Amino acid sequence: MKIFVTGCCGYIGSHTCVELLTNGYNVVGLDNFSNSKKEVLDKIREISGKSIKFYEGDMLDSSILYKIFSENEIDCVIDFAAYKAVGESVSKPIEYYTNNVSSVLTLLTAMKKNNCKRLVFSSSATVYGDPDTIPITEDSKTGGTTNPYGTSKLFVEEILKDLYKSDNTWDICILRYFNPIGAHSSGLIGEEPNGIPANLMPYISKVACGKLECLSIFGNDYDTPDGTGVRDYIHVVDLAKGHIKAVEKLDREKNGLYIYNLGTGKGYSVLDMVNAFEKANGIKINYKIVGRREGDIAVCYSDPNKAKEELGFIAEKTLEDMVRDAWNYENHN
Ligand code: NAD
Ligand code: UD1
Repeated sequence: MKIFVTGCCGYIGSHTCVELLTNGYNVVGLDNFSNSKKEVLDKIREISGKSIKFYEGDMLDSSILYKIFSENEIDCVIDFAAYKAVGESVSKPIEYYTNNVSSVLTLLTAMKKNNCKRLVFSSSATVYGDPDTIPITEDSKTGGTTNPYGTSKLFVEEILKDLYKSDNTWDICILRYFNPIGAHSSGLIGEEPNGIPANLMPYISKVACGKLECLSIFGNDYDTPDGTGVRDYIHVVDLAKGHIKAVEKLDREKNGLYIYNLGTGKGYSVLDMVNAFEKANGIKINYKIVGRREGDIAVCYSDPNKAKEELGFIAEKTLEDMVRDAWNYENHN
């Protein structure tokens, strides 16, 4: 089976390419390197022993998409290409909606014209906004997003639902990721944030290696066991494997629109994460408690049962694996 992966050189895309290649899929990839590097292609080859057929270009450019579809018989598309920095999205809404929503319309148009109607889309737990109930099921209400990044994911979900309503010969799987962290155990691929990281795990890694002095913990007065925010962290390799399960599901079922949470179902606090990192890697993390970060919620973790029952997906890696692999990647780079 031939899979077209957009954003194939990014954090989640690169790990998914490795899983696809090692599971016998042919992979065609597209990236414009707006948030990744060409070297990732070599690393994917080094880990998997196989190459992807790569196109450099922008998903907003319909001509590159037509070229890809005409030169390759694509069975399924996995769409990762998007901008993802929450803070930046607030100051650059036009750029975020263009890159995260318009580009999907360009992709869907090219897919339709080429009669390729099978898509796995990268969404986020951010579409649940501030959830009413925990754990979050796929039926929990969506909306109430607090930034253009989150809203862009919500808009695309709605577009995909309307598309499926208009033509139920599409096969669409929306995956709502919780908090992906960690890296491939080889240390060759991982997350490379631009500038000072906004997310917890990359920030902890930068403090551990001395590039940043001290972690600021955003609030210890939440209604959680230790007062710090609780999240559902999932190892990026488990997450990548979830995409294989989604592709298999679409191949098995034919025609449908499916939505799954990809998480572990376990919630860990910021202090849990600091402690786990210190214990697994034997490094002390300097931290201080500061005020809450605007837009943050207290607790967010998934009910992973639908993905377990319908996809056969279970996240297998432990918190120790996540923090060890994150640190291993930082050391390699
Ligand atoms: P990433 O930035 O590491 O990867 C995205 C890749 O897409 C990059 O290689 C970038 O160069 C490329 N890209 C961006 N716009 C493009 C365009 N117009 N044309 C071609 N290539 C383009 O991000 P990631 O963490 O791998 O995230 C992948 C997807 O998962 C995104 O859609 C993101 O919103 C979603 N997601 C990520 C997280 C997370 O915590 N990392 C959580 C939930 C959802
Ligand atoms: C953030 C985004 C979310 C996005 C997700 C993955 C916000 C409000 N939400 O989620 O839309 O889908 O990243 O990219 O930005 N923390 C600290 N100190 C830090 C960094 C984080 O204490 O320096 C805390 C946060 O307050 C939170 C937890 O660590 O309680 C996790 O934060 P983070 O990694 O940024 O992820 P989310 O906020 O869950």
